[in-house]
Amino acid sequence: MMPLGSLYRQLAALGQEAWVRQLEQTLSQKFALDGHGNMAGWQQALAALPEIRPDHVELKDRVEIGRAEELEPARRDAFARQLMAFHPWRKGPYSLFGIDIDTEWRSDWKWERLLPHIQPLANRTVLDIGCGNGYHGWRMRGEGAELVIGIDPTLLSVMQYQVMQRYLGDDRHHLLPLAIEELPPGMACFDSVFSLGVLYHRRAPIDHLLELKGCLRPGGELILETLVVAGEENTVFMPPGRYAKMRNVWFLPSVAAMILWLQRAGFHDVTCVDINRTGLDEQRATEWMTFESLADFLDPGDRGKTIEGHPAPLRAIFTATRL
Ligand SMILES: C[S@@+](CC[C@H](N)C(=O)[O-])C[C@H]1O[C@@H](n2cnc3c(N)ncnc32)[C@H](O)[C@@H]1O
Repeated sequence: MMPLGSLYRQLAALGQEAWVRQLEQTLSQKFALDGHGNMAGWQQALAALPEIRPDHVELKDRVEIGRAEELEPARRDAFARQLMAFHPWRKGPYSLFGIDIDTEWRSDWKWERLLPHIQPLANRTVLDIGCGNGYHGWRMRGEGAELVIGIDPTLLSVMQYQVMQRYLGDDRHHLLPLAIEELPPGMACFDSVFSLGVLYHRRAPIDHLLELKGCLRPGGELILETLVVAGEENTVFMPPGRYAKMRNVWFLPSVAAMILWLQRAGFHDVTCVDINRTGLDEQRATEWMTFESLADFLDPGDRGKTIEGHPAPLRAIFTATRL
């Protein structure tokens, strides 16, 4: 784990001393709460990764750490096997010393869809809620963000971030094993807050929006992406059971309903900047994620429907500001 001193100093500079005290007490316990018993293996795999200081790092157009020439050819297969200890790799892609981690998701495509529409990230302080393994956080740093704090309760995602951090040693990108419910209320200090792919997992979506607003400084920007359905201002779909085999999907609003929710939550300048149907080339099983993926979640006879007969995944990106 990155030394936490720099994080604590950065949070204190944002006026978040109370959060620092809370993290000092709770953070180390988080890694012990490893329900599936995988943490010891991941820690061992992390510690065994080769010590290489990359000469080349690219975070703007892709996440590329080191070049193939920097890894001795004889160590290449072993390194790939070591990275596989962190399977399944869902968010990416990454390139590590010439080894391409072809993740389940082309998370770079979501990034390219949103980037032209958001306030420039240079010198901004960013919070990324439900950040997965931090892929977008690296892209935020590539755009010049001053500080990126990601939170995600999934420990494997945190460990995948630590693999990258081992080679990047970036003390301005932190990923904490936390859920949004664990953040102090009303921090009001971040210039940009991202919530990508989280809202439909929340049972209380309006409370989620209020929590996001509470994290933003006045004038700050929210960037939110969620699953939507076709329909009018009062169309909201709640699946009766699973949605695309996911158990924890609650509310899928229409674009108009989502805009209304954001306005009712007190956001201004609410805009839908992108609508995109997830394609089989954006979310798919790969060598680095060998479990089921979108092709298995859709009706084989009608790709416009999920396997349960619901509308197939359609995602929209919204921007909004806090006055
Ligand atoms: C669909 S993924 C999106 C990941 C990433 N933001 C992206 O867009 O590629 C949803 C993420 O939200 C995280 N998550 C689930 N419940 C959460 C909560 N209560 N607070 C914060 N993150 C949560 C999951 O662990 C998962 O990594």
